[in-house]
Amino acid sequence: MALEKATGHDKKLQDRLIGSGDVPRHIAIIMDGNGRWAQKRGLPRIAGHHEGVNSVRDIVEACGQLGVKYLTVYAFSTENWKRPQEEVSLLMRLLLKALRDEKDRLHQNEVKLKVVGDIAALPQDVQDELLDGIEKMKDNKGLTLILALSYSGRWDITNAIQRMYDEIRSGSLKKEQITQELITSYLATKDFPDPDLLIRTSGEFRISNFLIWQIAYSELFISQEFWPSFRRKQLYEAVSNFQRRERRFGMVSEQLNKNESSGLDPLRGMERFLKSASKS
Ligand code: IPE
Ligand code: IPE
Ligand code: MG
Repeated sequence: MALEKATGHDKKLQDRLIGSGDVPRHIAIIMDGNGRWAQKRGLPRIAGHHEGVNSVRDIVEACGQLGVKYLTVYAFSTENWKRPQEEVSLLMRLLLKALRDEKDRLHQNEVKLKVVGDIAALPQDVQDELLDGIEKMKDNKGLTLILALSYSGRWDITNAIQRMYDEIRSGSLKKEQITQELITSYLATKDFPDPDLLIRTSGEFRISNFLIWQIAYSELFISQEFWPSFRRKQLYEAVSNFQRRERRFGMVSEQLNKNESSGLDPLRGMERFLKSASKS
């Protein structure tokens, strides 16, 4: 099985992007505005969620082609359970259908499926479908697609602290061992690097309890498009904008070695700085 390649004009745009700077290793997206997209067209909110699935398909494919390694999409938050029962239930049906419909195509595109969130809270058939997809795609080497479902940053951190508490009580974890790296390793996202680029659609400037620990140094991009109209063209704009940023990680411009290929890792930047400082 091979990754479906971009063609024609799209391929040119991708090549230009790849040639003009670092492509983010990890992109996280708050997929917002489905309801407003539908309402603007006089349609029920679910029609927006439905069309949003087509955006997910396009963005997943484009990210794979660009060489993005991880894509985390916020599909359903802990707080979204508070929506009207009918919308929640339609969303769960749509999720099930999308997983069933898209599984083969994702697999063909070498996508590796992962999920973060309180999965046990999802309907049993959705849980089964997720586990089936994760198992099917576990050896794939392309894009890792992480679905954030029944997820929130505070849920994740609370969970981590509860597990750490148990280990402290049983004596297997000591206070001195609690470092930032250790906390990171207790989060649902422990297997993935922090996002380099966080995109939110629909023009809202908020995080809505997404990856609050992990985005400490992510670059933020707010798109005015509602999620169902956010397609690869808008993704390229976001990546191009990202490439023009200077990620300083608390340091100053002069400390960043612009000639090296990746400025994504703050520790590498710091190591370089310490090395050059000890020489002088
Ligand atoms: C995002 O779109 C999808 C979910 C949160 C599940 P919304 O449903 O939040 O749409 P708006 O923001 O109300 O337009
Ligand atoms: C954030 O969107 C959650 C998802 C995209 C899944 P919301 O629509 O729930 O966020 P708020 O309520 O506008 O902050
Ligand atoms: Mg919303």
